[in-house]
Amino acid sequence: MAAIGGWSPAERVLVTGGSGRLGPYLVRELSSVGVPVQVWDGPAATGPSAPGAISVDLADPASVERAWRAADPTVVIHAAALATVDACLKDPARAEAVNVTATRQLARLARDSGAHLAFISTDLVFDGTRAPYSPGDQPQPLSAYGRSKAAGERAACETLPCAIIRLALLYGPRLGSRPSFFDAQVAALRAGTPRMGLFTDEWRTPVDYATAARGVVDLAGQRALGFFHVGGPERMSRWEMGQRLAAHLGMTQPPFDAISRLSIPGPEPRPADLAFDSQAWRTRCPESPWPTLAEVLARDLP
Ligand SMILES: NC(=O)c1ccc[n+]([C@@H]2O[C@H](COP(=O)([O-])OP(=O)(O)OC[C@H]3O[C@@H](n4cnc5c(N)ncnc54)[C@H](OP(=O)(O)O)[C@@H]3O)[C@@H](O)[C@H]2O)c1
Repeated sequence: MAAIGGWSPAERVLVTGGSGRLGPYLVRELSSVGVPVQVWDGPAATGPSAPGAISVDLADPASVERAWRAADPTVVIHAAALATVDACLKDPARAEAVNVTATRQLARLARDSGAHLAFISTDLVFDGTRAPYSPGDQPQPLSAYGRSKAAGERAACETLPCAIIRLALLYGPRLGSRPSFFDAQVAALRAGTPRMGLFTDEWRTPVDYATAARGVVDLAGQRALGFFHVGGPERMSRWEMGQRLAAHLGMTQPPFDAISRLSIPGPEPRPADLAFDSQAWRTRCPESPWPTLAEVLARDLP
């Protein structure tokens, strides 16, 4: 089958993080453009996330090297990560091993074999004081997670010319086996959840998994180099996001209290405004869809 969407049929793509929330969306997009995909799941995966997927612990360099030789990819989309603020705060050594050291190893393997690397990063590399953030802005993370992802970006860039694709807050229904926060919120709303507080003073440009995955796949298909921000077209607070979701579900009196993020002090400060300027991606990939929250809800929760 000839590949489409700018992809050469000769490419062999490796996706890490197949057992995560984003991974299955990436695999679906790649399958739709017709390129062969090798999927690496993480060590906690309970079964293969896709046909032929294998479990590779990125904290084990020898396993990574072996699995790389077997996959022999021409493009790697590196989405695996210790991907929560809490997990990285609790275990900084593992965050360093998975998010930084393994990224450096994959970058070296890509460089030595002439493969293209697209490293998936996050809006949490910024401190939230200077939004909207452009791809050229300097990271200033406030959390152990953000620091490890920023260090992963540096490790990749210092090793080879590559793509650093930062994603905004992701939302949407689950595609693989890992439950999504969005599904839990929808289920709770439908079940008549107790009241909950949502921040009115924490802003993002949320992007749904499908749109983010298509953005990543379109950039990788062009072997685009440099920094890209993939966010949604609307800046909104978490409170506003919840209100719109509840309204879509037909709730006239959503069980949300408007609260300030400053009212819940945590072990690390929470960035206020991580809104993205996604123009570089939009200019490079004008065919990538860019749906609003209302359009995503109409599509995913008809
Ligand atoms: N979620 C968001 O809102 C968001 C926003 C911006 C950027 N991102 C970035 O997007 C990427 C994907 O995020 P996600 O939401 O899909 O995260 P996720 O659901 O937590 O999935 C993380 C993936 O990484 C794998 N992984 C973790 N430790 C590993 C290890 N030692 N060896 C191999 N694989 C390992 C996990 O495997 P297991 O099956 O073993 O857990 C899983 O497949 C990450 O790079 C994240 O930083 C996420």
